[in-house]
This record gives sequence, structure tokens and C-alpha cells, in this order.
Amino acid sequence: MIFSLFGKRKQMKRGPLLKVDLHSHLIPGIDDGSRNREESLSLLKGMKALGYEKVITTPHIMSDAYRNTPEIIIEGLQALRKASKEEGIEMEIEAAAEYYLDDGFYDLLHKGEILSIGGKYLLFETSYISKPIQLEEMIFEISSAGYTPLMAHPERYRYIKDPLGEFKRFKELGVLFQVNLNSFGGHYGKGAKNHADLLSKEGMIDFLGSDVHHKKQIDTLSEVFLSEAYRTIFENNTIRNDELI
Ligand SMILES: [Fe+2]
Repeated sequence: MIFSLFGKRKQMKRGPLLKVDLHSHLIPGIDDGSRNREESLSLLKGMKALGYEKVITTPHIMSDAYRNTPEIIIEGLQALRKASKEEGIEMEIEAAAEYYLDDGFYDLLHKGEILSIGGKYLLFETSYISKPIQLEEMIFEISSAGYTPLMAHPERYRYIKDPLGEFKRFKELGVLFQVNLNSFGGHYGKGAKNHADLLSKEGMIDFLGSDVHHKKQIDTLSEVFLSEAYRTIFENNTIRNDELI
């Protein structure tokens, strides 16, 4: 599908390039993303072909499923950089993490064991189905620890029933939003697309993420970059990805 940019769809104009991606699962074998070295290299090549120059990859940290530590992630990062270099892929690779807000997260925050994006943004996610009772308190704790809370894919949480009201409340609490690019193409369903379009229209998007776990998402991203919805984002929102270069 990537080749369609230059082939049968060349009449379609691609929207602005993003140099930096800040949400993906490219370190092999430590979460539900890439399963092995070959898959990681293929994903990195895919990101390069989409125009990215730098990826800040963000393995899951979740007490019940992915007990990743900074040591595990940094070790994985170093191996990935080495493999990428050997393969001749010109891509700057950094790592942070995507934190699931559970009890374990409190401990990590209090111990100071946090991998943030650019030393500033703490990327977090929650359950898709039920809103954590202490969500506002956790957001407050993140800010108190000196980080800017960055909510991963706000459009995907199905517990959000009053989108405009609830999104505005998060913004009042100092939360920034990272919307998944693939939401605009309907990859996560109609609800997520509607909420992504709403966030775009309201100018509430701060960062755009690939959230790439596997190859299919690279293919769907190449379609999103050709879409009207993608170009519209840049009319209404100040997208900050490339500040992270
Ligand atoms: Fe993710």
C-alpha cells in the first residue's frame, strides 16, 4: 500500500509530513507489539517510507500484563538501534513508555522510575471500558511529579459518553492529547473515528501518534496521510510532534 503513494493514487495529495512519531511498540518481544527482530526492522522501514526521521517508541508498562522496567526497555532500545544500523535504516530511535494507570503506576511514579518523552511528557493510557475512579487524582500526581500528562488515544476510551464535556475537563486539568492517526481512517471503529474528528474540529489535538504494533497499521497509515481528514487536522490544531526532533 505504501507504493500506492507513487502509483495509482499519485493524483491524491499527501498531507504535511511528520518528522517525529512518539507512540509505537517497536521493541521486539516485550509487549503486544513487534514479535521479533525481523518484524521490528520491517516496521522501521515502513515508518521511514512514510517520511518519519525519528521514532520515540513506547512499550507498554502494565502491572497485570507487561512488567517492563526502564532497564528492560533501554536494553531493548540498544539492541534495536544496533539491528537498525546493521540493516542500514536511517532512523533516529529513542524510547519512553506508555503507562497504564493502575496501582503499580503509583509506585513507579513515587519511586521516580519513569521513562518520559523528551524528559517532559508522561504518556499514559487507561482501561478502554471503565474510567478509573481516581483518574483526576492520578493526573494531578503526574503533574505534581513534574511531568506533563499526555493521554494516549483519548478518542478510543469507550467510557467517554459526553465527549466535548469530558475532553474539556481533561484539558482543564492540564492534560495534552495524543490522537492515533489510524483513528481517522476508522481502524479502531466508528466511535473512535467520530471522537478523533471531534477533537480535530475543536482544535484539541496536541500530538499525532502511529501507535504501530504491526505491519497492517503502517499500510493503513499511508492511506490516512492521503485523506482529507488528515489535512484538516493541520488547519485547526497546533501539532507539536516535530518539537521533539
Ligand atoms: Fe500504544
